[in-house]
Amino acid sequence: MSQLIVDSNSWQLLITKVNLATMTEGSSGYGEITDAALAIAGGKIAWLGKEADLPEYNKNSVEVIDGNGQWITPGLVDCHTHLVYGGDRANEFEMRLEGKSYEEIANAGGGIVSTVSATRKASEKALFDSALKRLSALHHQGVTTIEIKSGYGLDVDNEIKMLKVAGLLAKALPVSIQRTFLGAHALPVEYKGKPDEYIDLVCHEMLTKVAKEQLADAVDVFCEGIGFSAEQTERVFACAQKHGLPVKVHAEQLSNLGGTVLAAKYNALSSDHIEFLDEAGIIAMKKANMTAVLLPGAFYFLRETQLPPIDLLRKHQVSMAIATDANPGSSPINNIQLMLNMACTLFRLTPAEALAGVTCNGAKALGLASSKGQLAVGYDADIACWDIKQPAELCYQFGVNPLTQLFKAGKRVI
Ligand code: NIG
Ligand code: FE
Repeated sequence: MSQLIVDSNSWQLLITKVNLATMTEGSSGYGEITDAALAIAGGKIAWLGKEADLPEYNKNSVEVIDGNGQWITPGLVDCHTHLVYGGDRANEFEMRLEGKSYEEIANAGGGIVSTVSATRKASEKALFDSALKRLSALHHQGVTTIEIKSGYGLDVDNEIKMLKVAGLLAKALPVSIQRTFLGAHALPVEYKGKPDEYIDLVCHEMLTKVAKEQLADAVDVFCEGIGFSAEQTERVFACAQKHGLPVKVHAEQLSNLGGTVLAAKYNALSSDHIEFLDEAGIIAMKKANMTAVLLPGAFYFLRETQLPPIDLLRKHQVSMAIATDANPGSSPINNIQLMLNMACTLFRLTPAEALAGVTCNGAKALGLASSKGQLAVGYDADIACWDIKQPAELCYQFGVNPLTQLFKAGKRVI
């Protein structure tokens, strides 16, 4: 397979002697091309194929990199994170080890709302500095695109503060950032007993401002017993739709409230967690072309026992993405390579499915399927080079980082 869209004389960079995991086949394989080369022009992939099929190119104007038999994948996509927050929840980790459950802690005024008070107190700079460390860790593992949610501000000013910090991070590191407004993450203490009034605030003041100032690319809701009901979730979705913003949902993590079916009605990008999702929900996802975002870090850290319905997702060919869910409460894990391993060991995904989860399917979950997450002509040249002998190694081991080079829009950034 070889493709040419731009004149090879305009190539700027050519990587030779590599193997490509193109990830163009969804979850069904790596889309391997061995003994390959890949050319970049104008920040996009301009050519890729067997090196033996390389067309003539201008040797004076192209920088050639010898890939030395390494593997290249698309830059990784972490499509679900809560990377911006104040404080930490190490004390709750300790409480859980002393016997309290995640839900008990949340119901006793801990959990998400305790991060809310730390986030409200934190300055923009403090939030930026702590999130930058986390983003940098992920970036050094090959992440070139990430989603970051609000949801620890829970009032107009603090939700906007979080989204602005997320925007500033995109200027600090060469990572594309998609922002998600998650005002309906938890009920703030000042609205105790008044969840519908809080949803009014989310829909009217918060969403209106977020949309007007173009601070978010999507809208999320935590639809759960310790979050919001399906009716409240639907009110937020209807408002998001009015503002032309796509929706997604945290759903079916601890119980099944029907959040996924509801999200499908609004043509959501994804439903995330979904341990308790049933077949009807999966059929609804398929019809709406939604992506299932699996979060093995939260499953592991909360010691969940209910596995997400992987076989049914396969049966109905729902695309599966994998993400860190990096957050202080349920997944304090800033490690996408570990997620690849856990997706395989805990959820029994194949390595090819797991890698698709952080490339093509991660991009699809963010509505970026036509520009990111695949090695294909015309796609953004966000490219990771790995010192591995076969793609499965990316899932097999963690702790030694095999990333050797990272390109963002065709420029070498690591
Ligand atoms: O994705 N489920 C809701 N939200 C986060 C948890 C956030 C927290 O505990 O701070 C999640 O797991
Ligand atoms: Fe989450």
